Amino acid sequence: MTDCQFTLNELFKKAIALTFPDLSDAPVIVQASQGDKFGDYQCNSAMAINQMLKGKGIKSNPREIATSIVSNVPQNDLIQKVEVAGAGFINICLSHSFVSSLLKDVLTNGVQPPAVPVKKRCVVDFSSPNIAKEMHVGHLRSTIIGESLCRLLEYVGHDVFTDKFPNYLQVSPPISDLQAFYKESKKRFDSDEAFKKVAYEKVVELQGGNSDVRKAWNLICDVSRKEFDNIYQRLDVTLIERGESFYQNMMPKVVADLERKGKVIEDEGRKVVFVQGQKVPLTVVKSDGGFTYDTSDLAALQQRVHDENGDWLIYVTDAGQGDHFKLIFGASREAGVYDPKVTRVDHVGFGVVLGEDKKKFKTRSGATVRLVDLLDEGLKRALDKLKEKERDQVLSAEELSAAQEAVAYGCVKYADLSHNRVNDYVFSFDKMLDDKGNTAVYLLYAYTRIRSIMRTANIDRKSLESCLNNTEISLDHPKEWKLGKCIIRFPEILSRVMDDLLMHTLCEFMYEMATTLTEFYDNCYCVEKDRKTGEIIKVDMGRMLLLEATARVMETAFHILGIKPVTKM
Ligand code: ARG
Repeated sequence: MTDCQFTLNELFKKAIALTFPDLSDAPVIVQASQGDKFGDYQCNSAMAINQMLKGKGIKSNPREIATSIVSNVPQNDLIQKVEVAGAGFINICLSHSFVSSLLKDVLTNGVQPPAVPVKKRCVVDFSSPNIAKEMHVGHLRSTIIGESLCRLLEYVGHDVFTDKFPNYLQVSPPISDLQAFYKESKKRFDSDEAFKKVAYEKVVELQGGNSDVRKAWNLICDVSRKEFDNIYQRLDVTLIERGESFYQNMMPKVVADLERKGKVIEDEGRKVVFVQGQKVPLTVVKSDGGFTYDTSDLAALQQRVHDENGDWLIYVTDAGQGDHFKLIFGASREAGVYDPKVTRVDHVGFGVVLGEDKKKFKTRSGATVRLVDLLDEGLKRALDKLKEKERDQVLSAEELSAAQEAVAYGCVKYADLSHNRVNDYVFSFDKMLDDKGNTAVYLLYAYTRIRSIMRTANIDRKSLESCLNNTEISLDHPKEWKLGKCIIRFPEILSRVMDDLLMHTLCEFMYEMATTLTEFYDNCYCVEKDRKTGEIIKVDMGRMLLLEATARVMETAFHILGIKPVTKM
């Protein structure tokens, strides 16, 4: 699907360049309008250009500027009408035939992603639980946001390599209850100096490749891996394991390289690296000779750029690690490991998960919430909700269980993704399972509504395809027009998310689409039935096509968000 905003932007860029050949950096601002009064899209460049001219001592007025820009817009088939309004706004009305052609394209060729200028090799570091510890709610956000970003990048055509970066810990024989084992060891580690010393020694031995220590450590990894994989399967997350240990034998070389470049300073037996403008240094070698989290991240970055050929590195971790990554990126840049002009590097930070009391999310007893327990509770609550609405009366056992999973995992993922990730967010099953408001449940219902209308009307893919050539997509009713315009904004929304990596924009778009859809079928009959007999008298095929285009875009967005829609719920 053509990116409408992008195309309009190009048209106005040309118009502005023609009008003001001397203003090379004139801002081109075209965006979807907020209300019908302002046309479908708006160009707000005239005011900014007026300011620029003023700065150069040239007298002008924004309305005149807007009028001249409008007169220079090249011939095109998108725009039906342009008007200058108010202080110098340019209101753009799209032509129905253009919107209709985009929607037809969705129906014939499927939803197409926006064009990406260059295909990148992306390496996404996310989830990253710690070996020997259970995955907890803190890892939930990284897993959900990371997976969704990967799906987006892949969907638009990038080549994505997904990485999880589990930390290794102290070493011991195999155990069945890793969590209890970890707690015990941590207790001893904190209270027993001798134990602590041995633990540190073992880390150095492990890093040095001691085979006994390695064996023990591998056993722990196996236990952890099984538990992690279980959760990944439930959340439908795919990734490749790349533990910190993967970078083990690269670390000495990374340190040596930094030393050769004169970046390393000795500080009370430690080796540290300072980054311009930053007070705290990275520690690359501890006084006992061990490497650190910093060293492995420096090694990982180098490996991802040089061996993996990554030219877009993404790290999805809690915002608290922002400074750590600033240092890692800074040191790597200064050491010439990557060139920011070639390689895009992003730390995708996120806030803390809070309980409904606005304090850090804990169990009643004050312990960290295990992810498995959380997902189990989600399943239970989703089923309760469906039963409360008596869905178990109409759905088959299979359909009910599919709906239960869609709701349970969907609501947990969506609640996370629909909040601006940089903020802390309050985890509330009650809120996320509400079928009103911006929730997965509301979206899932909106989608099943379309599928149910199609079933009622006896319409399937074949009948839609066969009427495509001789039926116009209905766009004349204001609610049809509103829905059509919403659908075609999908590519511009994806482009925006690719810029700032803020997934909630896509969720807001989905919510807008679902509410617009509701307005549409509250106002526009799609299927007319005989009042008495209930027999179908008329099916409005133009509206069916509009519904189908909506469903296709929703399916694509669901896929990116990691939500599995069901056709009955
Ligand atoms: N395992 C770490 C944790 O649980 C997160 C690792 C993030 N990735 C990285 N390359 N440092 O806190």
